[in-house]
Amino acid sequence: MPNLVEPDTQFREHFVDFRVAKTVNTIPYDASLPQKPAKDTPLGNHSSKKVTIVGMGQVGLGCVCAILNQDICGTLALIDISAKKLEGEAKDFQQGSAFHQHTTILASDAYDVSENSDMVVITAGVAQQPGESRLSLVDRNANIMKKIMPEVLKYSPNATILIVSNPCDIMTAIAAKLAGPDFPQGKVFGAGTCLDTSRFQALIAQSMDLDPKNVHGYIIGEHGDSSIPVWSSVRVGALPLLEPGEEPNDTLKKIHKSVVNSAYDIISLKGYTNWAIGMSTAYICKAVLNDTRTIIPVSTCVRGLYDVEGDVFLSLPCSLSSHGVQRVAVLPLSDSEKSTFQKCAKSIWEVQKPIWENLLPKSEPKEAPKPEEA
Ligand SMILES: NC(=O)c1ccc[n+]([C@@H]2O[C@H](COP(=O)([O-])OP(=O)(O)OC[C@H]3O[C@@H](n4cnc5c(N)ncnc54)[C@H](O)[C@@H]3O)[C@@H](O)[C@H]2O)c1
Repeated sequence: MPNLVEPDTQFREHFVDFRVAKTVNTIPYDASLPQKPAKDTPLGNHSSKKVTIVGMGQVGLGCVCAILNQDICGTLALIDISAKKLEGEAKDFQQGSAFHQHTTILASDAYDVSENSDMVVITAGVAQQPGESRLSLVDRNANIMKKIMPEVLKYSPNATILIVSNPCDIMTAIAAKLAGPDFPQGKVFGAGTCLDTSRFQALIAQSMDLDPKNVHGYIIGEHGDSSIPVWSSVRVGALPLLEPGEEPNDTLKKIHKSVVNSAYDIISLKGYTNWAIGMSTAYICKAVLNDTRTIIPVSTCVRGLYDVEGDVFLSLPCSLSSHGVQRVAVLPLSDSEKSTFQKCAKSIWEVQKPIWENLLPKSEPKEAPKPEEA
């Protein structure tokens, strides 16, 4: 079917290809990624799709519950190192199969169960304890990621990989580097600020007694303490929340503070967060598996954007295709938003750098060829 409205080129200018954004050096962008919508992709063809979830803790369970209830895939493979608990969880889910479309549930502590997945979601890892920051998990979860990624790639070399484990942005960068330079950029991305954004929308909507779906706006940057609310682009219905140049008032600042504190608050009450991250993960999976080109803030390599220099992964609104991040929306940021984004990239890079630089075994320096004997 032809487009009813031809795409507006000015609007498109805000959506910058990785190539144009020159984001990539160490993890090259695969220029062969299709940029045109795959029009023949059947929507809702859930039965042909396979999703694997690695890590069946609280977050993994939240993801399975949301994915099953939204009829997103025909096969769901669950992986965890704790085989006995995994068996129990899988049986429990299998016994609810009368209440959703048919989804085959497989479970194992061995990765062959994940073979030929279209999408792999990684939630394995240590979670925050009450009062603990996400960044403090970095070393422990980096070691777990080093074990998981080779197995995932061995059995599903063509899967789109979504990282949920925290600190989400650094874990995504690590997973992307472990995937290697031939793995297409954008096929590994992080859940990033998708959840922060839904918290943001919910709180603004609550303060105005409106439907959160009528609040359009993004939290960008780190999934964590230095996340950035892009006040300058928030719309409620079609109306801008602030006039151009207007600064957020105290109520709005408090809303962002609540977003940042949400995980700490919920963890202090129930020990973990899982339902909202489960729902946002299912939302992302749906966009990828159905190739919908939905714009969702997710964590992707931002090298070259807003003058960021390092291989830092942070969230920006991205259109998602079956290949993962297809395009990045380079929002027009105010000066203060841009400088906060740069500071955020710098602080993430400082934590990431020591792991990043020692992640792959150093290759032996090549011996200089001996001069040919006369
Ligand atoms: N990105 C987000 O928005 C978001 C939101 C909430 C939590 N998280 C993060 O998700 C992660 C999981 O949180 P949780 O509450 O489910 O923790 P959890 O402790 O309940 O579960 C972690 C699971 O990972 C498994 N695991 C550990 N090492 C593994 C390995 N090598 N292979 C396979 N499985 C392994 C454990 O057995 C356990 O079942 C944490 O890092 C947490 O901070 C992210």
